[in-house]
Amino acid sequence: MTFATASGKIILFGEHAVVYNQPAIAVPVMQVQVKVEVQNSARPGIWIVASSIDLNSELASLAAENALRKAITRVFEILSLATLPDLKIKITSTIPVAAGLGSGAAVSIALIRALSAHLGHPFSDVMVNDLCFEIEKLHHGSPSGIDNTVITFAKPVYFIKNQPIETFQVKESFTIVIADTGLPAPTKESVGDLKKLWEADPDRWNKIFNQVGNLVRKARVAIENGQWRDLGPLMDLNQALLKQMTVSSNELENLIAAAKNAGALGAKLSGGGRGGNMIALTSPAQANQVSSALLAAGARQTIITTIQ
Ligand code: MEV
Repeated sequence: MTFATASGKIILFGEHAVVYNQPAIAVPVMQVQVKVEVQNSARPGIWIVASSIDLNSELASLAAENALRKAITRVFEILSLATLPDLKIKITSTIPVAAGLGSGAAVSIALIRALSAHLGHPFSDVMVNDLCFEIEKLHHGSPSGIDNTVITFAKPVYFIKNQPIETFQVKESFTIVIADTGLPAPTKESVGDLKKLWEADPDRWNKIFNQVGNLVRKARVAIENGQWRDLGPLMDLNQALLKQMTVSSNELENLIAAAKNAGALGAKLSGGGRGGNMIALTSPAQANQVSSALLAAGARQTIITTIQ
């Protein structure tokens, strides 16, 4: 048996504007993970079992555009296998699905890693990242590539579309509380809607995306200089711009207000928006208080994570 894992992720700053070539900052969230186990099987075929989504199917019975089928088929193609082995592939995950935490990319990454290793040719991080991006593109229209990059390399990234991966130093660790609205985050839809708005008035939206880029650059400097408290107002500013982009929602705004009222230094949605998760910056001492306030305000679950 061969296994691989992949973590979740949050975007600290710059989602959506990153699709329009602005920088964004994302970090892995190690508290949630996907695990994929691959083993040879006596049962003929390639069986994929993911009990959390009620899946127990043979590869060929999955729809041609299914992301799992694509990932597996592409690994076989890249390895030019003449005959396919009989396998059981088991997927388990603690990353909430469609919540902006990168669950789709994490499944692809863990699957590509486990399968390529099981077949005796473990793919390099660059190969895993490229292949996951190929699959993301089939499913999300025009993704920037930030999700697959931060999850593959599992470290904080300063990401600009189509540019080599850049990491940076976190001089002083800081605390983020993540809270799930429980509503699905339809990333493809929010990215598509924003694209329509941009097409109708590119000048207006480019100005807004530039403002996001400026605050992302400031956030990077603050993180590198250990001035994490400065990130609070930058988060609020980023959220105001995301709201203008029409990707916030009442549920997200409700959690953001609850976090701020409980003493968070700043808060914003994270990822595609509309639903999914929001994040709040707190001092380490206040994290539990902010987390409780978020749960009381209706969050489905919270995660307290330290960025370092
Ligand atoms: C999704 O996690 C982040 C978005 O910026 C989309 C993307 O970058 O592909 C909304």
